[in-house]
Amino acid sequence: MDLKAIVITGASSGIGATLARRLSGPGRVLGLIGRNQQRLEMVAAECAAAGAHCRTASIDVRDTARLQVFLDHFGRDHPIDLFVANAGILDGRHADQVTETGEAARSVLEINLLAAVDSVHAVLPAMRHRGSGGIIIVSSLAGFVPLADAPAYSASKAALVSYALALRDALASEGVKVMAACPGFVATPMADGHVGPRRGEISADDAATHILDGYRRNKSLVGFPLIPFWLSRLSLLVPEFVRRWGMRGTRFHVASPSAGTARK
Ligand SMILES: NC(=O)c1ccc[n+]([C@@H]2O[C@H](COP(=O)([O-])OP(=O)(O)OC[C@H]3O[C@@H](n4cnc5c(N)ncnc54)[C@H](OP(=O)(O)O)[C@@H]3O)[C@@H](O)[C@H]2O)c1
Repeated sequence: MDLKAIVITGASSGIGATLARRLSGPGRVLGLIGRNQQRLEMVAAECAAAGAHCRTASIDVRDTARLQVFLDHFGRDHPIDLFVANAGILDGRHADQVTETGEAARSVLEINLLAAVDSVHAVLPAMRHRGSGGIIIVSSLAGFVPLADAPAYSASKAALVSYALALRDALASEGVKVMAACPGFVATPMADGHVGPRRGEISADDAATHILDGYRRNKSLVGFPLIPFWLSRLSLLVPEFVRRWGMRGTRFHVASPSAGTARK
């Protein structure tokens, strides 16, 4: 891919860190954003070993002002060819709850949806001015399948699919391409917080392959694995009782933070 400067939010872990490693190479400049500076530095060191030049930024994506400053500085030195809005959290019903709290729902919507939209708008003016650039918005198959155990997460991801597809059409004539990426279960620290069946879980490396392949082919939407993707999309068309029947055996709860995770 003809990319030089790439910025990824949520680059300290999981899919974002894997995308950063996969996009590393001589001549590439990466902007890596997350909150955990130590993990960002570890990812940056691996990317640098592969020949990339990295700039890390410990920023909460909800801090729009700090994010804008970083992206402006980065973009001035290295016009951004690809921006990946990937940062996200999974929260929902914990073991002792019937449904998520209002506070949890708000955090999920702020981080997964509002901050993602803000971050896109932070890079968009420069891309439109240049008439080039690409944006990948990381959603989820949950965007097609409302999860009773994580209503706000499902809503945030459904909104991101809609947002990405609408934005793609809006920018079609401006040389800026937008893609929505909808992973199913991916083995990352986030998935470790999902206590329940994770059918068809794939590695973060395989997820990165699907995402980058879809972007290379200029797809508007990439969802994977293939069968869960199409079942998820079709589930929106069937009668409600059929959809609910199909959701049997998928219930889960979210691990409380103290449970910790092994993967990074
Ligand atoms: N894993 C799955 O099964 C799966 C499935 C479908 C979609 N996805 C989506 O894929 C994306 C990446 O998830 P993942 O599985 O790679 O999870 P992960 O390993 O937990 O990584 C999440 C990343 O987001 C960052 N992040 C979270 N909140 C942030 C905030 N407020 N400010 C800045 N950075 C923040 C984290 O960085 P810090 O911890 O350093 O802040 C981390 O780098 C998410 O949008 C997720 O919804 C994941």
